[in-house]
Amino acid sequence: MTQDWTRHLEHLDQTDMRRRLRTLSGPQGAHVGLDGRDVLMLCSNNYLGLANHPALIEAACRATIDYGVGSSGSRLLSGSMTLHAAFEERLAAFKQTPAALLFNSGYAANTGIISGLFTADDVIFSDALNHASIIDGCRLSTAKTLVYPHGDVAALAGLMAKERPQRKGRWLIVTDGVFSMDGDIAPLAALCDLKEAEDALLLVDDAHGTGVLGATGRGSGEACGCLARIDLHMGTLGKGLGGFGAYLAGPQAAIDMLINRCRPFIYSTSLPPSVPAAAIAALDIVDSMEGAQLRQKLASNQQLFVAALQAGGAELTATMTQIIPVLTRTPERTQQAAAQLLADGILLQGVRPPTVAVGSCRLRATLMATHRADELEQAATSILATLREIPPC
Ligand SMILES: Cc1ncc(COP(=O)(O)O)c(C=O)c1O
Repeated sequence: MTQDWTRHLEHLDQTDMRRRLRTLSGPQGAHVGLDGRDVLMLCSNNYLGLANHPALIEAACRATIDYGVGSSGSRLLSGSMTLHAAFEERLAAFKQTPAALLFNSGYAANTGIISGLFTADDVIFSDALNHASIIDGCRLSTAKTLVYPHGDVAALAGLMAKERPQRKGRWLIVTDGVFSMDGDIAPLAALCDLKEAEDALLLVDDAHGTGVLGATGRGSGEACGCLARIDLHMGTLGKGLGGFGAYLAGPQAAIDMLINRCRPFIYSTSLPPSVPAAAIAALDIVDSMEGAQLRQKLASNQQLFVAALQAGGAELTATMTQIIPVLTRTPERTQQAAAQLLADGILLQGVRPPTVAVGSCRLRATLMATHRADELEQAATSILATLREIPPC
């Protein structure tokens, strides 16, 4: 019965495509414990260092003491608690929208939002590099989905023009705000112009921008100067905000539709009260002087690291953010480089197909505000040395 699986796994091993878990000890910091050693963490989404921030820990502990460890039901049955509602109110104010809804994860949010709001009469226009959860949400929705070339607003406009004569239902443009495997930012202002001209809606997944981008951490929409023009703001709490879960912020009607139609929301136990409590604490930090300083430190880390890698001739994606992928191209080179870097005390995971296209494997470096400049300079030197050592493509 399991022989096929074993053969498949052997094939993955032989082609450097096998994925394995690495178990870290201790909290998620700039340094983590791995197999009894201290290593520099260079692949975490804990961009502001909030996953281990005392204020979030305190808020989660307080909520656990006051409300217990579980919600014991889905939101529509017994599991809608004051902290869920308090977070939603806080988040809606943060994103400047009429309402918001908490989801159990970003994956659950994207699959549930898209399939809950869009149906067979609708057309979804989806960026070619959108996250897997968006792709799966489009599939589940049964709406016609047209994939436009990455970030190409002119090509998208062309697709829309072709589609216009047979339009029946709603049109949705869906895009990552920050592309998770490339680190570039979607052309959100131009997408807003287009969706307004075409009477379409725009859904932005700001998993990697929330808390981090824009002068006040409102995310990629703020960074692009068009926050208020985005119709549906999706984001996660497990990256810049340090915790776990996800949200949609937008019009009340969309939120009410999801309460009635969104299967991951309806048919799943809601998050423990500690989670929204920690998320509120995270938003408080994002809105504080400390938040501004963390964003500034992250931005200066980013500049320093990109400059060091580019000066040494590393091939990077068109990154604009704290996600700084170094292209290694083949699975073999990627795995060799990751192993060499780990031997040097740096945890930097390789990303291979199907997460990225064949021929575009990469080491996806992600920076934190809590990294020191000198350790990033040292890490860049190690990466450059490793790239020189591994065989060329
Ligand atoms: C762009 C994007 N959207 C959604 C998700 C899914 O979020 P979660 O990890 O909360 O399921 C991720 C990654 O995890 C992501 O990178």
